[in-house]
Amino acid sequence: MVRAAIEPPRAPPLPAPAGRRRQWLAGLIGLLAGFSCSACLLFSGNGLGATQELRKVAARANKAESDLIALRQSMETLRNALHARIQECDLRGDNRTTASAASAAGRGVGEVATHAWDDTPENFRIHEMIQKVANPRREIMLALANDVMMCSNRKTCWWNGGNVLKTFLEGTSRLKMSNVLIITLDDETEKFCQKFGGVNSLRLELPVPKAQHNSRGANMISTLKYGLLKQILLMGFACLVVDLDLVFLQETDPFDHLYRDADVEASTDGFTKAWAGGSIGSIHEPKMGWGAGGLYVQHFTLNVGCAYFRPTIRAIDLLQRVSDSLAARAGWDQQVFNSEVFMLSHGSYNGSKVGVRVMEYSTWLNSKTFFFTERNRYFPGKTSDAPLPVMVHMNYHPDKHKRMLCVWARYVEGRKDACDGLPAAG
Ligand SMILES: *[C@@H]1O[C@H](CO)[C@@H](O)[C@H](O)[C@H]1NC(C)=O
Ligand SMILES: *[C@@H]1O[C@H](CO)[C@@H](O)[C@H](O)[C@H]1NC(C)=O
Repeated sequence: MVRAAIEPPRAPPLPAPAGRRRQWLAGLIGLLAGFSCSACLLFSGNGLGATQELRKVAARANKAESDLIALRQSMETLRNALHARIQECDLRGDNRTTASAASAAGRGVGEVATHAWDDTPENFRIHEMIQKVANPRREIMLALANDVMMCSNRKTCWWNGGNVLKTFLEGTSRLKMSNVLIITLDDETEKFCQKFGGVNSLRLELPVPKAQHNSRGANMISTLKYGLLKQILLMGFACLVVDLDLVFLQETDPFDHLYRDADVEASTDGFTKAWAGGSIGSIHEPKMGWGAGGLYVQHFTLNVGCAYFRPTIRAIDLLQRVSDSLAARAGWDQQVFNSEVFMLSHGSYNGSKVGVRVMEYSTWLNSKTFFFTERNRYFPGKTSDAPLPVMVHMNYHPDKHKRMLCVWARYVEGRKDACDGLPAAG
């Protein structure tokens, strides 16, 4: 059940006694300047006109400067008041901070959500956990995991063995990331995270939509995440949601590589600059004579296996659309997601209108770019001078774990030729 939205904190009235005093003072100075100059005029005639003008300008500059100082002070007061209100909101009985409060505090720009999150017991647990885990910008990295990812039963995983969850966690632990949250979907996985140590994990029972009951295991998991993400955004947090078959490499926080200027900032399945960022193509129909040419826009789909969502109305609305669609009919979430993101509004179809940024395809790498299309930049490992990726996502290769390990050996352990023996395609 959704409770009534929390009022976004209202700004207190402009407290400007200091400002007013300054204005009055500035006015007085202006008056005096004007007076002395009329006096100049009286005494010296036109010869002193220039001095008079200069004095006026100087007075105006003084006034502008003092106004600016006053404005700065009242901005500071407003900001402090706002922070106090948000903290109060967090501590109240109904402590479901809205995205608008978070965003108004300078943690985001653009349109923001004003609805509260659903007050289910799970959501209270999630909220409590996220408050603990999030970085000061109210951002978390989120991954969903079940026992398939540990491949404890060879029959359920298709990547020829290997604990993907373990290798993922080794990656984030190495970077000492403290804002990672693993949602564990069964007891085995929760136990594993506990044993691994230093991992923030939360055991949740998330219901797979009925429409997806016959789809593949991994598919079912991904359908769960949209509803969950929406609630997290409504709580006023931004979320970088990731699959587990990626290895983070750069020793800086991956969050340092975000731009944060779009509703959704996501990795791409594109494997060249043009496929990732988009390009204009053309069609030439010679029979059309004068009107033979025509242009179109093309780019590859986003990969939701590494995607950053800001708590904006548009992003929340997008997540709702995707989860509605997945609840209604069987579908590949990646495809549903991309059509909701990119299909244009037309006629009765009202598109999501989300703002999108594509992560640099040569920084946030998919495995096709690394092993296949740009292979000559990355291989052989010993002579490659391609810059160190933020991460590599093994989304294009079935032998994921093997490739995660080779990337690790190459970049972390310094065995530069560790991936050279692996073929370009799986
Ligand atoms: C938030 O509210 C819930 C229920 O009203 C309460 O159980 C929880 O302790 C509160 N958390 C904080 C940090 O106040
Ligand atoms: C499309 O949806 C937006 C809200 O997402 C709404 O403001 C707008 O009026 C809708 N347009 C039409 C034609 O219904």
